Amino acid sequence: MPDTRTPLDALELLMQDHREVESFFRDFENLHGASDKSAQLIAEACAELIIHDEIETDIFYPAVREAADAEDIEDLLDDAEDEHDETLELIEALDELSPDDERRGAQFLALAKQVAIHIAEEETILFPRVRNLKALDLVALAGRMTTRRAELMDSMGLAEAGAEAA
Ligand SMILES: [Fe+2]
Repeated sequence: MPDTRTPLDALELLMQDHREVESFFRDFENLHGASDKSAQLIAEACAELIIHDEIETDIFYPAVREAADAEDIEDLLDDAEDEHDETLELIEALDELSPDDERRGAQFLALAKQVAIHIAEEETILFPRVRNLKALDLVALAGRMTTRRAELMDSMGLAEAGAEAA
């Protein structure tokens, strides 16, 4: 029987990731203080950001770059890649703090701020341009990204969110 669900395209998939990351940050802010739960949220958000980074920088950005028909898209991609590097640096800095270090919360909020700016730029400037690239098959791209996500989650020992029980 054919699968009647409309597959998500690459942009919808990335925006779904963005909403998930935002929900981690929101939950963290609502906790008001350090706890086991906040440590867990930090770990989950960082794992999600690392996976998201790899999917975007290894698959999505190169595919867009190949299909890009204008120099300004290339500039947007350069900026986006720089922002990903900054995000990874913030995650590394967070990792270097011991679990009971009081600066972890502030460091995580700095990460949240940086990611929020990046997400807004992607969704308002880059993604609308990408949607108009005729040479890019966004559904096929989504397939490659989904496969990579599953591999990464597997290698990190994480369960797929929303995975259906057999
Ligand atoms: Fe990004």
